[in-house]
Amino acid sequence: MPHSKFLNLLMDGETLFKNEEVFDPSYLPEEFIFRNSQMKALAMCIKPAMRSSRALNTLLYGSSATGKTTAIKTVFNELENTENVECCYVNCRVTKTMYSLFAKIYENVTGRQAPETGTSFSTLYEKILKKIKNKVLIIAFDDFDFLERNKEKVLSTLLRTHEMYPVKISVWLVSKNNNILFDTSVRSMFSPEEIHFPDYTKEEIKSILKNRIKLGLYPNCMENGSFEKILNFTMENDLRRGIELIKKSALNAETEGARSIREEHVHGDVEKTIEDILKKESPIESSLLFEKFRTATKQSYSQYCRNILNMNVNGKLIIENQGRTRIISLNTSGNI
Ligand SMILES: Nc1ncnc2c1ncn2[C@@H]1O[C@H](COP(=O)(O)OP(=O)(O)OP(=O)(O)O)[C@@H](O)[C@H]1O
Ligand SMILES: [Mg+2]
Repeated sequence: MPHSKFLNLLMDGETLFKNEEVFDPSYLPEEFIFRNSQMKALAMCIKPAMRSSRALNTLLYGSSATGKTTAIKTVFNELENTENVECCYVNCRVTKTMYSLFAKIYENVTGRQAPETGTSFSTLYEKILKKIKNKVLIIAFDDFDFLERNKEKVLSTLLRTHEMYPVKISVWLVSKNNNILFDTSVRSMFSPEEIHFPDYTKEEIKSILKNRIKLGLYPNCMENGSFEKILNFTMENDLRRGIELIKKSALNAETEGARSIREEHVHGDVEKTIEDILKKESPIESSLLFEKFRTATKQSYSQYCRNILNMNVNGKLIIENQGRTRIISLNTSGNI
């Protein structure tokens, strides 16, 4: 594609988005509907902290995209200005070693970067404890299942601290299910309040998606058939992917200069289609890949480019230029 044509695609002023941010994975919904009972249960666990006592330990569990992370972040945001209560969010998908978990806690409570080397774990922990002396600390370990080692050591270190220091620490774990196995010593210290996040029903998903569309897109942008397609895709996958599909479909419509999102703009698994083609034939010339892509999805060249760009940014592809030809292959190394 000539450079100027590509720039035109990017610069085109027409937009269907009223507020694109509401489709970002980090967006915290103001209306967190269908989760009243879970939020009430969390409020009950925090109540002691408001009286400067230790909050209750909790286990939030449920399958993907059922609102567990949203619930914790919403509660922690609410507690931000509460004196005497420190909240600390750690994502175990990215933070995995014992030292890095506590470095994250250190950063949260001190607002400063933890020293990377030259400090022992116990010195780091002493510093944390000094900072939170007499305060209530709530630590949430999101996606705790991803912590391969030290699960028990992390919990027992935190939950035994009060025996030696005047601190009140409680731990909130997030997991896909409620059957995490701990050895007996941890079990005797950690008997959390279990809060279940059940899968949403179709009607609930429908309301949540409609709310998000209302917040993020201009009125009447979404055709009924397109919404049905997105709803069905969401039911087969999950809410997160459904919200992402709204954004992708709107971008597809925009790229074509359309004023509304028609069914042909909604393609749930385009990237997967590209991946499947590449699994059979890789490396492949971009033009040939586009031909196969068009046959499989009936989508245009600009939509092909957008998906390739996105996959490239996410480290799924390796793109090499050989003269004027672009050669595309699947990045199987897992490195970005
Ligand atoms: N009740 C709800 N109302 C509005 N948006 C919701 C609701 N529940 C979930 N969402 C949205 O769905 C997406 C996924 O939610 P969240 O990240 O909280 O799920 P999760 O349970 O932590 O999933 P995972 O186990 O995969 O980490 C987010 O974009 C969030 O805004
Ligand atoms: Mg989550």
